Amino acid sequence: MKTKNVYINTIGCQMNVYDSGQMAKVLKHKNYKSVDSFSNADLIIVNTCAIREKAVQKVYSFLGRLSALKKKNTGLKVVVAGCVAQQQGAKLIKRFPQVDIVLGTHAINQLPDLLQKIEEFPQSIVENEFSEIIHETVPSGIAMTQKREVTGFVTIMRGCDNYCTYCVVPYVRGREISRKPESIINEIQMLVQSGVNEITLLGQNVNSYGVKEGLTTFPELLAMVNDIDGLERIRFVTSHPKDLSDQLIESFGGLNKVCNHIHLPVQSGSNHILKKMNRKYTREAYLEKIEKLRAVSSEIAITTDFIVGFPGETEQDFNATIGLMETVQFDSVFAFEYSDRPEAPATRFSDKINLEVKHHRLQCLFKLQKEITRKMHHSLIGQAFSVLIEGASKNQLKKISTSAMVELSGRTSENRIVNFDGSPDWGIDIDSLKGQTVNVEIVKAFSNSLWGVLSEHLIEYLKSEGGHSHVA
Ligand code: SAH
Ligand code: SF4
Ligand code: F3S
Repeated sequence: MKTKNVYINTIGCQMNVYDSGQMAKVLKHKNYKSVDSFSNADLIIVNTCAIREKAVQKVYSFLGRLSALKKKNTGLKVVVAGCVAQQQGAKLIKRFPQVDIVLGTHAINQLPDLLQKIEEFPQSIVENEFSEIIHETVPSGIAMTQKREVTGFVTIMRGCDNYCTYCVVPYVRGREISRKPESIINEIQMLVQSGVNEITLLGQNVNSYGVKEGLTTFPELLAMVNDIDGLERIRFVTSHPKDLSDQLIESFGGLNKVCNHIHLPVQSGSNHILKKMNRKYTREAYLEKIEKLRAVSSEIAITTDFIVGFPGETEQDFNATIGLMETVQFDSVFAFEYSDRPEAPATRFSDKINLEVKHHRLQCLFKLQKEITRKMHHSLIGQAFSVLIEGASKNQLKKISTSAMVELSGRTSENRIVNFDGSPDWGIDIDSLKGQTVNVEIVKAFSNSLWGVLSEHLIEYLKSEGGHSHVA
C-alpha cells in the first residue's frame, strides 16, 4: 500500500492534542505518515475548539485557506474534527464545500472507515452522533509512540456534566464518561515502555472520575498510577474546586510521583458571579481548599483560570476577583474575556459587559499577575530544584551552535520552566539528554521562565559571574 501524508492542525485544549495523537495512530495503521506542513499532504485534518468565538474564527479562517489548495490538488481530502465539527455538523459542509468529512468528538475510531467510504463514493460525510460508551481507539499491544517523548497525555474521561452557564463543552463533548482503570493503566505502561517519564491525566473534571460508573475514585486511580514501574511524574488537569476531596488533597503529600502543582480554575472571586456561572462553590469554600492544599504541601504551585466580563459583572465583582488573586498568590493564571456561546445559557443573560470594559479588566488582571509571578520567581533565586529535561531551550533552537554545550529546558515538579546550560562533558546529542532529571539552582528569574545552573557547576558559575560584575 502506498504511504500517504497526513497533516493535523490541532486547535484547543490538551484533550484535543490527545485526540489528534489518537487520529495519527489509527491512521498510521492505514499507512499514513504525519507531516509538519500541509503543502505536501494527501489528507488535512483540523481538530477544532469551540470554547470561545475566537477559537471558532481560527477554524473558519484555516478552512478558507484550504479552498485554493484543494483546487490545485484535487486528490486532497479535508477532515474537520473536534468540537466545532460536533457543534456545526452539516452546516460546515454547506459553508465550506471543500470539507470531505465532519468527524464529531465521539467518532475518532471511525476515521479510517470514513476515509475508505469517501474514496469509494466521493460525497461528503457528517458523523456527529454521540455514543454512550468510550471506544478505545488504540488496541492494546500497539506501541503508542515512535519518537522518544518525555511527557505524554492520557485522557481518563470524556465529556462534562457540570453545565457551567458560559460553557459549550457539555454540548460538544457530551455526557461525562470515565474509561476503565485497566485500560488507562495499560496505556500508561505502554507510554512508559516507549520512554515517557511524565504523564498528565486529562478530563474536564478529573475529580469526579469514576463516580458515575462506580469505578475506582480519582485518588484511588492516582495511587494505581503511582505504582507503575518506571513512571517518574504524574500530573492531572482539570480539577473542579467543588469536587476536590480531602483524599485527593492528601495525594499531594502521600503519593511520591504526583507533582507539586494543581490547576484549580476559580473563574471569579465574586460569589454573585460564581452563582450565576453555576460553579457550585463559594469564594470562601475555594479559599478553604487552597489552605488545605498548602497545609499538605506548603510549596505547592497553584494555577487557575478566570473569566472577566461575565454578564452582570460589576466593578465590585471584578474587585473581588482582584482581591482573591492578592490573597491566593497564584503561580500563573489563564484569563479570558467572556464570550457568548450559542448553546450556553449565559448567552441569554442580560447585562452583557461591553468590549472596552472586558479588555480593561483583562489588562488589569494580567498586570497584577505579572507582578505576582515576578515576585514569586525572584523568591526562587538561590533554591535548587529537580528538573526533568524536555529538550533544547527555545533559545538553543534559534541559534546555530558550534559550542560543545547545549542550552536545555525542563520543568520542575511545580511545572515551572527552567532553562540552563548543559554540562560540556554531556555532548550535544539532545535526544540522549531528554528525560534525565538533574539538580538545578535558580540564578535568574524572568516573567515566564527561570534561568538556572547545574548544581555541580554552581561554584564555577558564581566565580565567573563575580568576574563579570567586577568588569562591569
Ligand atoms: N473544565 C475546565 C475548563 C475547560 S475550558 C474547568 O471547569 O475549569 C477552559 C477555560 O476556558 C475555562 O476554565 C474558562 O476559564 C474558559 N472559558 C470557558 N468558556 C468560556 C466562555 N464562554 N468565554 C470565555 N472563557 C471561557
Ligand atoms: Fe465547562 Fe464547567 Fe464542564 Fe469545565 S466544568 S468543561 S467549565 S461545563
Ligand atoms: Fe475547546 Fe473542545 Fe477543548 S471546546 S477547550 S477543544 S473540549
